[in-house]
Amino acid sequence: MTPEDPRIIALRQYREQARLGGGAERIATQHAKGKLTARERLDVLLDPGTFNELEPFITHTGDEMGIASEKFLGDGVITGYGQIDGRTVYVYAQDFTVYGGTLSEMQSHKICRVMDLALRNGVPIIGLIDSGGARIQEGVKSLGGYAEIFRRNALYSGVIPQISVMLGPCAGGAAYSPALTDLIIMVRKHSFMFLTGPEVIKAVTGEVIDSESLGGADVHMDLTGTAHLAAEDEQEALALTRRVIGYFPSNNVENPPFQPPVDDPLRMDLELNHIVPLDASQPYSMHDVIERVVDQGSLIEIQPTFARNAITALARMGGHTVGIVCQEPSVMAGVIDIDASDKMARFVRLCDCFNIPLVTFVDSPGFLPGVGQEHGGIIRHGAKVLYAYSEATVPKVTVITRKAYGGAYVVMSSKYLGTDVTYAWPSAEIAVMGAEGAVNILFKKQISSADDPVAERQRLVDDYRQRFNNPYFAARAGYVDDIIEPCETRPKIIASLGALRDKFSSAPPRKHGNIPM
Ligand code: HXC
Repeated sequence: MTPEDPRIIALRQYREQARLGGGAERIATQHAKGKLTARERLDVLLDPGTFNELEPFITHTGDEMGIASEKFLGDGVITGYGQIDGRTVYVYAQDFTVYGGTLSEMQSHKICRVMDLALRNGVPIIGLIDSGGARIQEGVKSLGGYAEIFRRNALYSGVIPQISVMLGPCAGGAAYSPALTDLIIMVRKHSFMFLTGPEVIKAVTGEVIDSESLGGADVHMDLTGTAHLAAEDEQEALALTRRVIGYFPSNNVENPPFQPPVDDPLRMDLELNHIVPLDASQPYSMHDVIERVVDQGSLIEIQPTFARNAITALARMGGHTVGIVCQEPSVMAGVIDIDASDKMARFVRLCDCFNIPLVTFVDSPGFLPGVGQEHGGIIRHGAKVLYAYSEATVPKVTVITRKAYGGAYVVMSSKYLGTDVTYAWPSAEIAVMGAEGAVNILFKKQISSADDPVAERQRLVDDYRQRFNNPYFAARAGYVDDIIEPCETRPKIIASLGALRDKFSSAPPRKHGNIPM
């Protein structure tokens, strides 16, 4: 066929029509809001020239409320596959210029198709979400379409990485599908997630609120813990997506990609020997510790502003992906509360399902006491962390930097929860509780009947500290594998992970466990 062939000309015209989505005017409106179009987003996300579109000629089948005559090629979503750093990913990008990117029966068909292809080929699926949720004109067909997507989100969870990038107002199902995926990335001031928008809320409850305050990036990053990463603009969000996918294997039977390290695996950082203050009541920054231990420049903190008393992060050590879990002693002394439990448990499971070894740093006085926490279900939430660490079969290395008291010792990847290697720094304090609390409970009568109660109390506290507030009692009993100088931490962890690379561990056969939720 020649370029003048009418069939070629017709194809080119159809393609141009598909490219325009909801039309030039709506594209201009999208741009005026500071947003890219769905196709422009895919250009930024994928390696140049690698995108291949699927099903661009699909149109909706609705005939209610006057939409039968208004059809747009592609029906509000662009689907296909491409590459990120040379690795194949399947993608779908909702096109807000067509019925506000809303989900129709046929749009659901297109999304499910790329999800199925991603699963069949064992590669990640990335959704660029910009949608008003279920398309009103299609009624139950659009609701059923969402159910099809949710079911796949759930069934493919832990098999292929699923990433949702929120790039506009995401209402109803457009928020629920991402909530079932592994990572949600939002754009500040441009993306919102809510089940019912401000207008519905005002009508039902009388509450007046704008979209940003209801479901903006800050709300889901700081308050609800629904989002995992946030960017200042779309370009940054898409660049972040490219970066983060590089830490994950393409599926659950592969290992994460190895990136030859530029940072010496044997590097020792003498500053680490000075990080933990001599006074155990003084805080220090665990962020500082992990930055010094992992491959330089490789740390991506996940949920950095939610439950800041805990840290969850992806990083590389010796070029291999690791998941870092720890407390931040400079925030609420690193106690474990409800939100920190949820954050850590979910991250441990994310790493475990994608063969990402876990490195846990411990400095916590324990679970947060209080009526609010008890009545809020800290037992149920804390149990998630126990469950997640216990069932995780990936290599697990733990470093106790300072306090590992009571529940915090046990929960944070302790030896008999199945951790492979446990190191302690000389500053580690491994005990049922701190010295003051223990002495108050054990020696109340002895102190009150002493000639000098203050001196007696101090003597007992000092005695307790000598016995328990150090790593040697635990090391003698075989509860830590070695006591190391802080500066040795990086080479020790890298060597441990190297020795655990071929770890084989399996759980008893079962349909699935019943994690406390
Ligand atoms: C059909 C819709 C639509 C919808 C928006 N549009 N939402 N069409 N069904 N749900 C259309 C508009 O008619 C408009 O068409 C275009 O999309 C852009 O919408 P605007 O309102 O002009 O844009 P904007 O001001 O930016 O507001 C976007 C919005 C708002 C915040 C998304 O439209 C909105 O609140 N929509 C309703 C959201 C919602 O409640 N969805 C149902 C969720 S329930 P034109 O032709 O003018 O371009 C759900 C059930 C799932 O999803 C089940 C979960 C468990």
